[in-house]
Amino acid sequence: MSLYAIGDLHLHFQAELKNKAQLTDPLWRDHERRFMENCRRMITPQDTLVLVGDHSWGRKMAECRQDFDYIRALPGRKILLRGNHDMFWDTNKTAALNEQFQGELFFLQNNYAAYGDIALVGTKGYTFEGPFYLNRRGQVVGWDEDAEAQAAKLVEREAARLRLSCEAARRDGYRRFILFLHYPPTSILEKESAFTRIAEIYHAEQVIYAHCHGASRFHDSLLGVHRGIRYSLVSGDYLQWEPRLIV
Ligand SMILES: [Fe+2]
Ligand SMILES: [Fe+2]
Repeated sequence: MSLYAIGDLHLHFQAELKNKAQLTDPLWRDHERRFMENCRRMITPQDTLVLVGDHSWGRKMAECRQDFDYIRALPGRKILLRGNHDMFWDTNKTAALNEQFQGELFFLQNNYAAYGDIALVGTKGYTFEGPFYLNRRGQVVGWDEDAEAQAAKLVEREAARLRLSCEAARRDGYRRFILFLHYPPTSILEKESAFTRIAEIYHAEQVIYAHCHGASRFHDSLLGVHRGIRYSLVSGDYLQWEPRLIV
């Protein structure tokens, strides 16, 4: 029994592709086939695969039908986190999604999933992504402070959701936690955030995140062990479509 994670499949079997770079970048070429082949080679029916958000370009469920057919055909138990592009997923209707896909997919939001004695807890998260002002050498010399203040509100809302989910698991007796965020846990300006503090309060063993695309973004946030917690980026292009073994 193993736990795997990967994010940002950005499927578009039906919906129009918004990011045209996805068509031309060699990292993305034929990525649906490459990812399916890697999963079939690595993942058994006893394993769990967490898909860390940005599943589909579809804006409504009707535009995601074939993307969900693909996700359901992946091997193992599948758990989905909400990404910033997952317009089909209304946070207030997560229970309805879990009912609709009962026994096939689990949608992780304001709840938790058990993996042995570990609680898998997650939310979309948020982090300030600029605009940043750079000098000629590409160093950050300032940023949009209104945008930063707005981001801080969204961070707090997402952190509250994560705390509630951790509390639900703790009430049910769980003492081991792995946290999943779609957004990176910190901005490029930070070494800690509301999310890293939650990870430390609950003694999370790992924090897994995605969302960062392209080599220039792969080092935007924490990677490796910080203050006893392992931070891993699992966006699909970063992993070259091979799911990352988490446990
Ligand atoms: Fe993405
Ligand atoms: Fe994203």
